[in-house]
Amino acid sequence: MKTRHFLKETDFTYEEISELFAMAADFKRHRNHGTPPSLDKQSWGMLFFKNSTRTRISFDVGIAELGGHSLFLDKNSMQISRGESVADTAKVVSRYLHGMVIRAYDHSLLEEFAEEGSIPIVNALTDFLHPCQIYTDAFTIAEKLGESDLASLVGKKLVFMGDCDSNMANSWILGGAHMGMDIVLSGPPEYQPGEQILELMKNTEVRGSFEYVEDPVAAVAGADVLYTDVWVSMGDEAEAEVRKQKLAPYQVNLDLLNKAKPGALFMHCLPAHPGEEVTQEVLDTPNSIIFDQAENRLHVQKAILAVLGINKAQKHS
Ligand code: CP
Repeated sequence: MKTRHFLKETDFTYEEISELFAMAADFKRHRNHGTPPSLDKQSWGMLFFKNSTRTRISFDVGIAELGGHSLFLDKNSMQISRGESVADTAKVVSRYLHGMVIRAYDHSLLEEFAEEGSIPIVNALTDFLHPCQIYTDAFTIAEKLGESDLASLVGKKLVFMGDCDSNMANSWILGGAHMGMDIVLSGPPEYQPGEQILELMKNTEVRGSFEYVEDPVAAVAGADVLYTDVWVSMGDEAEAEVRKQKLAPYQVNLDLLNKAKPGALFMHCLPAHPGEEVTQEVLDTPNSIIFDQAENRLHVQKAILAVLGINKAQKHS
């Protein structure tokens, strides 16, 4: 059986995502009664080249709850940071581990790891995509709509405000459209969706749609969900002041939220910078479901790990 990876939102089919959502809902409902040990006797590495709170903790706890053992691999104490190749690192760790969760700058590092190693690789964020976040966020929207059912997302309009040439914007374009949602990206012309995601979308069949709308007020009309992310991502610090100035008209404040559909949800992958991309008032409004999103990282990632871990166990049986 070919080793499966989760590097991008389309690595699971629509039908498989529907099953993942059902599994995540079950894990959430029965968390206090234990979780089937899908990762029993498995050891998973977690290699992070960037800081993390939610991703690191939710994977660590999730692997433990599935009966597995996690090893946090500090990049600075790995030989990869002293020049050992990705290919050699991938081949070596594949002899010890059952899977790897990796957060990196360059998406191609994960692709090379997956190509050169022989264990499942999970994308814990790259500069290109953040698929664990999108699956979780889509699950959270479906949960708020009723039954955690993927089909309930079809035709729902989500507006991503801010830097539309970012990993979260890319992931909403790919993941949201794959799940049948209508994704609108709104930001200054300098931060429109980039070539890499547009090229990928040309070769990807999706159920939903995406479009760029420069005017934030026009963009949010009829929106079911408003979403934003920090204006200065990890790696963008040198251009912080320019970004803040250009992105200011795209702040999600109560005035903008009130122009969306009544009861529209507000979402943010966190960490937030109140007063920049979003106001504290919006973060505190009942429409805000930011902490449900954060919690659901655990349940959805457990479902992803369970599926990849079971495949790995079958491969070795
Ligand atoms: N949303 C998210 O990925 O959070 P962390 O950077 O804290 O992992």
